[in-house]
Amino acid sequence: MNIDTAILTAIRRAGEAGLAGADLAQRLGVSRAAVWARIEELRGLGYDIEASPHRGYHLVSAPDLLHADDLLSRLDGATRCVGRDIRVFEETTSTNDIIEKLARDGVKEGAVVFAEAQTRGRGRLGRRWASPVRKGLWFSVLLRPPLRPQAATQLTVAAAVALGAALREEYGCMSSIKWPNDILLRGRKVAGILTEMSAELDCIKHVVLGIGLNANLAAGDFPMEFRRLATSLRVELGRAVDRPALAVTVLRHLDAAYALVCAGQFARVADEWAGQCSTLGRRVRIEVGGRTVAGQAEALDEDGALLVRTQHGRLERIVGGDVTLEK
Ligand code: BTN
Repeated sequence: MNIDTAILTAIRRAGEAGLAGADLAQRLGVSRAAVWARIEELRGLGYDIEASPHRGYHLVSAPDLLHADDLLSRLDGATRCVGRDIRVFEETTSTNDIIEKLARDGVKEGAVVFAEAQTRGRGRLGRRWASPVRKGLWFSVLLRPPLRPQAATQLTVAAAVALGAALREEYGCMSSIKWPNDILLRGRKVAGILTEMSAELDCIKHVVLGIGLNANLAAGDFPMEFRRLATSLRVELGRAVDRPALAVTVLRHLDAAYALVCAGQFARVADEWAGQCSTLGRRVRIEVGGRTVAGQAEALDEDGALLVRTQHGRLERIVGGDVTLEK
């Protein structure tokens, strides 16, 4: 743990009671002057840290910025895998690209890369993903799951369940999932998941799970072409949300859902998914690989693929594509 993470963790744990500078210095094994210098640096970033003779250092508020040390301190070691390593970029092309590079460099699974802005954020099916600066959570996670390549959709399903759980926990709002990767609020897309994989014939080398969550965009921040279909938490809740707090809640839920997948308990994740899904039981039209499949969405199979009963009574197994929910 680096010194800023350690300071933020210690003063967060101390809460209202605060923590004396001398205690903090002793715990960290550094001088009081070194603690003071780091606190000044954090204040410069916008952390309101009060220092009083009675209760020592006390964290009054944190700024709305993604700062790796802060996110690590908020997580406070609560996850088994996801978020053990967090990196934040002010701007990048796509966080999926950064994670892909880290994967090839042999970085351990669970690493997370956030960007405050992406210049070439991408969505599924070659679409672009608008990622304006400090308005959302644009991040990717490196996973090395013990799964067959055919089962990679389990991870998209797990991520969707985790996003839904995080929105429920933070704001009490009920989102719905449109298979495979859309999280909707009142029928509009608030988050999307882009799962990219590197695999051999029978085993996954790594998966890059890219998540875009529209947190604080105003309606006018969306490019014209998305305005009818997309929304943000700010638009839906009528107030700005605390992005670092939300980020950490999402990572915790993602870690829990991923642990179930790794333990061979995808059925539990799928059950939760089914409870939130707006696709099951609906008539759907899916454009997949140049053809259209129309029918009734019946269930998820054990790999996370969608089972669609066509009008001829055949059960089609769909692993991707563009889904339209019919009236
Ligand atoms: C979709 O709904 O089509 C998926 C959108 C995924 C967007 C995220 S933002 C972080 C990560 N980096 C990208 O370039 N894309 C994903």
